[in-house]
Amino acid sequence: MEKNKKKIMKGIILAGGTATRLFPLTATTSKQLLPVYDRQMIFYPLNTLIKAGIKEILIIVAPENSGQFLNLIGSIFEKIGVHIEFMVQTSPRGLADAFIVAEDFIDRDDVVMILGDNIFEDGLSEAIKGFEKGGLIFAKDVPDPERSGVVEFDDENRVVSIEEKPQNPKSSYAVVGAYVFDYRVIEFAKSLKPSARGEIEIVDIQLKYLEINELKVEKIEGEWLDAGTFDSLLDASNLVKEKKLYKNFDKTIEKAILNYNQKLKEIAKRKII
Ligand code: G1P
Repeated sequence: MEKNKKKIMKGIILAGGTATRLFPLTATTSKQLLPVYDRQMIFYPLNTLIKAGIKEILIIVAPENSGQFLNLIGSIFEKIGVHIEFMVQTSPRGLADAFIVAEDFIDRDDVVMILGDNIFEDGLSEAIKGFEKGGLIFAKDVPDPERSGVVEFDDENRVVSIEEKPQNPKSSYAVVGAYVFDYRVIEFAKSLKPSARGEIEIVDIQLKYLEINELKVEKIEGEWLDAGTFDSLLDASNLVKEKKLYKNFDKTIEKAILNYNQKLKEIAKRKII
């Protein structure tokens, strides 16, 4: 990066992985291309990022689905000033690995990483826009924290511990799948040792920032879903329908989808002739 260049916020969406919990649905496509009510899941993390003003987005995909992603969103955002890049990841080594493979994309900028199956009711926009340095994660009070990373607070709301899917959670606050870090995340990720399941873990990145006293945790009130199971995928569609979350979409995304529909209509017309 050029000297004195103002750093910007970039976005990464993780949409690789095999999603075996959703077989056979994911035998033919990516989890993030499955429908959530009236549109593909990937539009939700895209919306979260675009609403936060992010204009450079990297989507990490598995090789077998890269063509489908390109067909759907390869070009429709360029017209609205959002630049999307794709990266094919052949062998995922854990969520934290994204920061290593995306090293050149991140450069010396800040980055928000969103898990492609996480759906948020509220934008995280204000917090993301207000980010200065270090790490920022979001926590949500949930009935089943053992399914997620769990963050424990002291009486003064300071973070005491973060544990990945603990059997006996120390609080009911789940760490949701949106993480904001400065570029030091690349070096932190490189320094991690694989966990017992052979992956480099996103929780260990959070702990690195906690160790140096630079981790902020913001509690979120709106609905949050990790649509990675049959039940939560169905819940996501119902939530979108009941709470009319499709109305929360950024106008530019709606415009991009409209352009896409137009393009499809033109193709359909050509085929008839
Ligand atoms: C991942 C993270 C976990 C986080 C969750 C949010 O778990 O490892 O800390 O709480 O995403 O969706 P996964 O759902 O990939 O098992």
